[in-house]
Amino acid sequence: MPRSFLKKLDTAQGVFTFRDFILLPGRSEVEPGDIDLSTRITRNIKLRVPLVSSPMDTVTEWKLALEMAKLGGAGAIHRNMPVERQVEQARKVKAAKAEAVSTDEKGRPLVGASVSPLDAERCKALDRVVDFLVADVAHFHTSKVMEAARRVIPDLSADFIAGNIGTSKAASDIVDELPRVDGFRAGIGSGSICITSEVTRVGAPTLFAVAQVATAMEEKGLDIPIVADGGIRGPGDAALSFAAGASVAMLGSALAGTAESPSPRVTKKGRAYKVHRGMASAAARRVRFAVDRYSVPAKGLDEGVEAYVPYVGRASGVVERMENGLRAAFGYAGAKSVHDMWTKATFGSVSAVGATELGAHSVEEI
Ligand code: XMP
Repeated sequence: MPRSFLKKLDTAQGVFTFRDFILLPGRSEVEPGDIDLSTRITRNIKLRVPLVSSPMDTVTEWKLALEMAKLGGAGAIHRNMPVERQVEQARKVKAAKAEAVSTDEKGRPLVGASVSPLDAERCKALDRVVDFLVADVAHFHTSKVMEAARRVIPDLSADFIAGNIGTSKAASDIVDELPRVDGFRAGIGSGSICITSEVTRVGAPTLFAVAQVATAMEEKGLDIPIVADGGIRGPGDAALSFAAGASVAMLGSALAGTAESPSPRVTKKGRAYKVHRGMASAAARRVRFAVDRYSVPAKGLDEGVEAYVPYVGRASGVVERMENGLRAAFGYAGAKSVHDMWTKATFGSVSAVGATELGAHSVEEI
C-alpha cells in the first residue's frame, strides 16, 4: 500500500475536548423539578443519579462508595490494595445498615469494584460480592487484555464494564469478541491528574471517546451504557458527555477533595486540601507493584501526577451541586432526561479565542 505521509496529516481526524464545545439552548417545556436524572450504569443496573466515583486510591474506598449509593449514584472500589482488602471494602458497603437510594435486589447498597481482566482471581473474588466490575486498564483494546477478558467473563455473574477505550473500533471489537459486555468506560488521557497524552502524545479525550463509542453502538443497534471518564470538572462537562451519548459521568478529582475520600487531609497556608494522584503516578505505582503481580507493564513510565485538591467537605454537597447544575443544563438544552440529551441536545463549537468570553471576564472578581 503506498504511504503518503503528508496525507496522514491532511486527513487527521478532529479530536474534541470539553472545552471545544457548548450546548445550544433548545426549546424547553421543562422546569428543573420535572427533570429525571435517572440512568443506567450497565445493561442491568439503574441509578437515580448519573454519577459514579472513580476507582482511584485517593477517591473510592468503602466510605465514598457507600455515600454515593446513599445519594443515588454508585462507587467503584479501587484495586490498589491486596484482593482480600478490596473484597473486605466491598463487603463493608454491602453490610452497611444505611438507607441507600441505589440498592441491589435485596435492598443492600449497590457497589462496584475495579479489576484488571488479567487478574482472574481478583475478578472472581470480587464477583461474589459486588454488583458490577469495572475494568481498570489504561488501554483495554489490546489483544492480551481482550483475550483475558474473553476467558474470565463466562465465570462472572456481576455486570462487566470494559475500559478504558477511546474509539469506535475498540467498542465494536469488544462487542464482537467478548462473550458479553454490560457497559463501557470511555476516555483516555483527559483525567485531571493524567499525563498520558503529554508523555506519549496518544489519547482519546473523554468527549471524543464517548461519541466514538456511542456511534459504534448506534451503528450496531446496541444499547450498552457508556461511562464518561476523565476531566469532568462539573455539571457542564457531564452534560456535554450525555449529549455525546454517555449515560453516567465518572468523577475522580471532583470527589477526591471530599470528607469521604480516603486520602489524607492536609493544611497549606491555612487552607485545607486533600491529596489526589493518578493511578499511574510514581507513588500509586509503587503500591501497585507491591500488591498486584499483574502490574508489570513494560513501561517504567509515570503517566500521572500527584496533586492537591481543595477540601470540599461532604460528598453530598458535591453531588447536590452536580445535580442542580445538570438540571439547569438539561433545562436549557430542552431535555427531560439523559435519553433526551442524546436525541435533543445540540452542540456549538467554541473557538480558542472565543473561549475566554464564556467565563467571568472583564471584571475583577471579589
Ligand atoms: P478526573 O479528571 O475526574 O479523572 O480526576 C479521573 C480519571 O483519570 C484516569 N486516571 C488516569 N489517567 N494516568 C492517566 O492517564 C493516571 O495516572 C490516571 N489515574 C486515573 C481514570 O480514568 C480516572 O477515572
